[in-house]
Amino acid sequence: MKNIIIAPSVLAADFANLQRDVEMVNNSQADWFHIDVMDGAFVPNISFGMPVIEAINRHAKKPLDVHLMIEKPDRYLEEFKRIGATNITVHYEACTHIHRTLQQIKSLGCVAGVVLNPGTSLSVLDEILPDCDMVLLMSVNPGFGGQKFIESTYDKVRRLRQMIDSRGLNTIIEIDGGVNQETGTKLIEAGADALVAGSFVFNAPDPQATIANLKNIQI
Ligand code: DX5
Ligand code: ZN
Repeated sequence: MKNIIIAPSVLAADFANLQRDVEMVNNSQADWFHIDVMDGAFVPNISFGMPVIEAINRHAKKPLDVHLMIEKPDRYLEEFKRIGATNITVHYEACTHIHRTLQQIKSLGCVAGVVLNPGTSLSVLDEILPDCDMVLLMSVNPGFGGQKFIESTYDKVRRLRQMIDSRGLNTIIEIDGGVNQETGTKLIEAGADALVAGSFVFNAPDPQATIANLKNIQI
């Protein structure tokens, strides 16, 4: 059975009860904490910054998967590492020198990933795929939780799976936005390895059971 990585997105947690929600994830079958950083410039929303991530990291017993929706992320990579980032993913659209940025993330000892917006072609990965530990495909336009899943993502996942396999790489395919049991199952069928889920998990009557159901998707 395939090991599916589940990364609940803290953006959908109750920020007034953050420790409670972090413990919920600690005691669930989830693999990573997905941490969405938005700067109000690259995306039309502002989420949270360093002090909140530091606070999460004090209680989190699982790796922090930090998704940077910020312009020129190079400025803050060291700081994100210092406050606990395990994975750092940066948007292709936000980096002028994506190859350099990936090398910087790796030199910090973090897992390095590139994120592509729904409107960005897989062809931009052509030169840099071997340098990516992970590729995160957005299945909504970044900026907000709770948006509708974009159906063309399935085909994009299949094509990325093919690119990775045909080159003999073991790059992780992560998907973010509108993931629920139905879209999650189809994404795993299409070749995804890791699923981010925000509102589907945190708005569920039983978040831990919801995480378990995603983790145990059978294809
Ligand atoms: C969107 C964020 C997502 C978001 C997902 O810009 O990157 O991680 O939290 O939320 P849902 O799962 O509710 O679509
Ligand atoms: Zn995200």
